[in-house]
Amino acid sequence: MARTIEHHDAPGLRAMIVYWSASGNTKKVAEAVQRGLMSASVQPMVRTVAEAGGIDLYDYDLVFFGAPSYSFLPPEPVLRYVKEKIRHHRDRGDIKPGAPKVPGKRAIVFVTYSGPHTGIDEAIPVGKYLGQFFAHIGFDVLHEWYIVGEFHGREDLSTLGRLGDIRGRPSIEDLANVERQAAELVLKGP
Ligand SMILES: Cc1cc2nc3c(=O)[nH]c(=O)nc-3n(C[C@H](O)[C@H](O)[C@H](O)COP(=O)(O)O)c2cc1C
Repeated sequence: MARTIEHHDAPGLRAMIVYWSASGNTKKVAEAVQRGLMSASVQPMVRTVAEAGGIDLYDYDLVFFGAPSYSFLPPEPVLRYVKEKIRHHRDRGDIKPGAPKVPGKRAIVFVTYSGPHTGIDEAIPVGKYLGQFFAHIGFDVLHEWYIVGEFHGREDLSTLGRLGDIRGRPSIEDLANVERQAAELVLKGP
């Protein structure tokens, strides 16, 4: 079911995009999210995981968090970021029994993956893990987006895998879909 931000939330919406990307696929998706939000008159802050350590997520109403799947988990630097954040939020008392929602705080997680062996099942643990992080600190996780990305440097895994020929993914069309979905999230009512 599509879930959206109510239109009246859009003015002054504070949005941030945090991502990690080694070979550029997740970065492309982050940039598509940025274009989509900007087309809906929201100016997001865009940061890599390495740049985002000191940023308080509660300063933002809408946080997009993106990472690739590495051995069906988030890559080590992303795991480190999440673990550090959990420690910080636990010490601050933000992580409570029952994980009550903090009003107005929403997150969307996005995962790029090549799925060479078992397809999207290699990406779902990443989306669930990142979603759980946000849910634990009281964010409403609106969506998990899974986007196919070429396995750079491994032509066999980009042509012979479960998903077939994924060279060039995310494609222009994949990115246009992300852009549209990001814009719709802000512009369309529920
Ligand atoms: C070390 C490594 C491990 C990977 N493991 C997986 C995996 O288990 N499952 C999968 O679907 N894709 C896997 N991939 C493919 C990446 O998830 C995919 O290409 C992703 O889009 C790369 O994102 P990036 O270009 O932003 O770094 C792996 C890639 C690398 C480099």
